[in-house]
Amino acid sequence: MGDTRKAFIKTYGCQMNVYDSQRIADVLSSDGYALVDTPEDADLTVLNTCHIREKAAEKVYSELGRLRVMQDKQAQSGKAMKIAVAGCVAQAEGDEMLRRAKNVDVVVGPQAYQELPDLLQKPKQQAVSQSFAPEDKFAALKSAALYRPSPPTAFLTIQEGCDKFCTFCVVPYTRGGEFSRPEADILNEARSLASRGARDVTLLGQNVNAYHGEKIGGGTQSLAGLLYELADIDGIERLRYTTSHPRDMDDGLINAHGTIPQLMPYLHLPVQSGSDAVLKRMNRRHGRDLYFDLVDKLRAARPGIALSSDLIVGFPGESDADFADTMDLVRRVKYAQCYSFKYSPRAGTPGADMEGQVPEELKTERLAELQALLNEQQSAFNAGACGQVMPVLFERSGKYEAQIIGRSPYMQAVHVTLPAGAEPIDFLGEIHDCEIVQSGPNSLAGQLLTEDVKTLA
Ligand code: 5AD
Ligand code: SF4
Repeated sequence: MGDTRKAFIKTYGCQMNVYDSQRIADVLSSDGYALVDTPEDADLTVLNTCHIREKAAEKVYSELGRLRVMQDKQAQSGKAMKIAVAGCVAQAEGDEMLRRAKNVDVVVGPQAYQELPDLLQKPKQQAVSQSFAPEDKFAALKSAALYRPSPPTAFLTIQEGCDKFCTFCVVPYTRGGEFSRPEADILNEARSLASRGARDVTLLGQNVNAYHGEKIGGGTQSLAGLLYELADIDGIERLRYTTSHPRDMDDGLINAHGTIPQLMPYLHLPVQSGSDAVLKRMNRRHGRDLYFDLVDKLRAARPGIALSSDLIVGFPGESDADFADTMDLVRRVKYAQCYSFKYSPRAGTPGADMEGQVPEELKTERLAELQALLNEQQSAFNAGACGQVMPVLFERSGKYEAQIIGRSPYMQAVHVTLPAGAEPIDFLGEIHDCEIVQSGPNSLAGQLLTEDVKTLA
């Protein structure tokens, strides 16, 4: 044989998993694997899974079924592809996965990716790691990342896990308690990302604004303090952070939105529900008024800031009046973009055992009503961009010749056709002012301005 081994990684779920998949790729490439885009001729397939809603876990099991068929075919030509399941389903199910899906060789939780090469050598029964020591993970994974060019938009995990215990959520069980990385490590990784081409950096954490890492020189650093430090790094032109909890949105962080020009005017601030009674049962530790206050303060600190949110319909006990409160909150806040979900009972979380589970049909009905409003708001937000000049960070070439796709400060995809003679590749990673000439529900069309007019709405 002697050929390079090939690995295929499939990612489900959140941005944290996208980031983790890059770390898995680093570990595997230091172990001699080359990455491939399909499982067909891979020697190893890694499924980096998500456990946040039921369907996500079921998707993993059906994917394992499809891979089984492929493995049977491969076996006829003497090939044996291994399968590793990583991520939150791995953490939650542990060795149960080996029993339920016989073609799984390794089960590895989100804090143990550095163990992957070792686990791949072990007999199946011992190839499960659900260890819970984020420090080890970051220390072990750091060096491998230093050699890869970065895309213009990059993620940087600064915090993992959560101590909030919202009653619908598995994260505190799958990702464990809150852990913040030390400031020095984060700044080093950010400098490295910037030197490798990152321009727009999103700080990640399940509860990112609870960040309280060890500060350089002693003491504790806050997310606001960290943002000021990151803004000083040459090459980082845009900063974002996600996902935040309203309770951890302190005044220092709100003010940072008014004083750090690199901090983009777009914030994902999940509210989950607009009903005080539901928020209480969700153990969100705040009511709708606190959320409205935060929105007012943010808009005062950074006029024009756009907001996005996560919303759940059909949480146990949600009445018509509770749902009407959610609709009302959405109407008042006016979101740029939102993710909305039907409540999905997760075993082991308090919500799953609560009385008043809402029938599936009612959840479907409410979700449709909510999404119609959210789609309207998103289209209106995009339409508002027409005629404006925005700095666009070019990320990738488009489907058509001379087309390039970039990102606005508000995370909108902007499609631009370059003038004759210009090559998309020369523009990647650069920020240019574009006039927005057209809007759709999911993207904008812009024209490159020859003169650089720097105006930001
Ligand atoms: N059911 C439905 N949605 C959920 N989320 C988390 N857990 C559940 C659940 N059990 C949603 C929340 C969270 C987002 C990442 O996923 O809105 O903010
Ligand atoms: Fe889950 Fe977010 Fe609540 Fe933490 S704050 S328990 S991650 S929903």
